[in-house]
Amino acid sequence: MGNGSGFGKVILYNEHFVVYGVPAIVSAINMRTTAHAQKVNGDFEFYDNRMATPGYKDEKMVHQRDSLDYIFKSMGLKRTGVRIELAGDLYAASGVGASAASCVAIARALSEEYQLDYSDEEINRVAYEGEKGYHGDPSGIDNTAATYGGLIWFKKGSPNNIERINLVTPVNIVMGNTGAVANTKAAVSGVQERKERFHERYGKIFRSAEELAYKGREAITSFDLKTMGSLMNENHRLLQEIEVSNGDLDMLVDIARDEGAIGAKMTGGGLGGYMVALTPEKEVQENVAKAIEGKGFEVLKTEIGI
Ligand code: MEV
Repeated sequence: MGNGSGFGKVILYNEHFVVYGVPAIVSAINMRTTAHAQKVNGDFEFYDNRMATPGYKDEKMVHQRDSLDYIFKSMGLKRTGVRIELAGDLYAASGVGASAASCVAIARALSEEYQLDYSDEEINRVAYEGEKGYHGDPSGIDNTAATYGGLIWFKKGSPNNIERINLVTPVNIVMGNTGAVANTKAAVSGVQERKERFHERYGKIFRSAEELAYKGREAITSFDLKTMGSLMNENHRLLQEIEVSNGDLDMLVDIARDEGAIGAKMTGGGLGGYMVALTPEKEVQENVAKAIEGKGFEVLKTEIGI
């Protein structure tokens, strides 16, 4: 039996902008998707035992099938005579890197079962192919975080610029789930369409996002939590301007700030999925989590920089 796992992730700065070569910063979270792969006599078997937001698995079924095709093809394997099972403690929902974590886990499990001995770099390349099933033309940030873990500076290019960033010590966050399953492909193509239509205005917003990434990196390396938080707030505003936030995300962001979070923003593809709040103090983390749960939404209490 081949086993593999991939990390969940939270984007701290610049989802969407990253698709166009603007640098972004992502942290893995300490929750993973696991995969087991086992050769069997017969056809292809697939079992998805992950905990999931209601509707997520149905909504993503076609994407997942396409993604599996890409993964098998890029590994030079036939999609037959093998059984794959997904599990793990990462909730399958939008915004937390569930699709990328599953691609990495599956690639690793297949590599082990077929004795391909893939390096992390090869796993990341396969997972990027797998992500195409979900995203169309992904930037590669999610599969990179899911493969390597840690806190990462990511700039799309040929090749991508991937650098590890050190955080003095892990910092508590709360992630609030709107419960809405989001279509990342649609969110990304919406931005593309508006970027062409409102060329000048979007140009300005994108330049602000680029500056923000460098400030964010500086704040993280100097462990300036206050600035990290205010840059998250500023990033949320930019994401609102390119219309990838929505009413529920904005509401959860406001609740988190009211409860003492030092910064909060939507995270991932937007239009549903998760928001993230920076809550270094345990008590504030608890208060933010309780307030969000009090409104009927699910939360994850975890850390960045693990
Ligand atoms: C999704 O987690 C992040 C996006 O920027 C898409 C991508 O980078 O491929 C929205």
